[in-house]
Amino acid sequence: MLDKKKWIQIRNSNLKYYEEVELYYKSPSGNIVIYKPEGMKFDDKSLDKKYIDDLYIQPKDKIKCLRAAQKGFSEGLVSNIVKHDTGKVKNELVNLVDETLSQPRSGGLETAPGLIDNIVSGYSSQPDVVKNLARISFTDYTTTIHSINVMALTIGYCFYNHMTEKETKEFGLAALLHDVGKTEVSGEILTASRGLTDLEFMQMKKHPTIGFDILRYTGIDLKVATEGALEHHEKLDGSGYPEGKTKISDCGMLLGIIDCYEAITNDDRPYRSAMQPMAALQILKKDVDKGKYNKKIFETFAYSLTDFDRSGKYKDFF
Ligand SMILES: [Fe+2]
Ligand SMILES: [Fe+2]
Repeated sequence: MLDKKKWIQIRNSNLKYYEEVELYYKSPSGNIVIYKPEGMKFDDKSLDKKYIDDLYIQPKDKIKCLRAAQKGFSEGLVSNIVKHDTGKVKNELVNLVDETLSQPRSGGLETAPGLIDNIVSGYSSQPDVVKNLARISFTDYTTTIHSINVMALTIGYCFYNHMTEKETKEFGLAALLHDVGKTEVSGEILTASRGLTDLEFMQMKKHPTIGFDILRYTGIDLKVATEGALEHHEKLDGSGYPEGKTKISDCGMLLGIIDCYEAITNDDRPYRSAMQPMAALQILKKDVDKGKYNKKIFETFAYSLTDFDRSGKYKDFF
């Protein structure tokens, strides 16, 4: 067995970002052997292509690779935004966020603020592209795609609500990282298509606290991000978790609403199909009426989705 702390497997689709680092492969006898030295290009004739789907880097090169991926992503993002190619923008994002979240404690999160910079500037130049990111449905569901959707919806809310660019970036970052604590909950619990046992549910309910700890540990002590991670499952009537708080920060409240909206509109669960936006908003509205969510934040979020102003088509909804 490979020691996962010593070797990180890389994603084939991101190969182009690994030219500047040493790469390794697993020989048939199970030993780790150098595949290419730092700086060697992938089109070098001496490279044996049969190992290209199963290559490894050392943890010390992880940040360097993420930075290269981020740079490549920024360049790709600009051209895909200009071309209005939402699908490609989303694919690039999924790869990068997946890598960033895969090992949050070993430094992956360092590149997240730069990622948000790019998204927010992309949004101001071509709002349709970023807005549509949250509307593309994916057949599989992971914390990565959910996090990207929640981020895109949050940035849409911030723009609709005329928040400053600084606030928008902070909220976007908080949204992207709100479920980072799930990276330490077992995959079996996260993807279970059955009801969870009491013990499993207890594990699941720890993810806000774990997320808060990870952000503090990795030096992301931005208040909206730590509050967002800790409070996005709290409800104003005290029925939420992990603490049953009744005073919740604006970011925690907004992320709670968007988190729930995203979960019911994304076609993610095998045992039920996704709901249409209006039906999802009706469900959330019931919880607003029960005193679980802040009414004003909910209404602003709903308007930010519809593209209609308050005098528009949906005014009777509220
Ligand atoms: Fe969560
Ligand atoms: Fe979430």
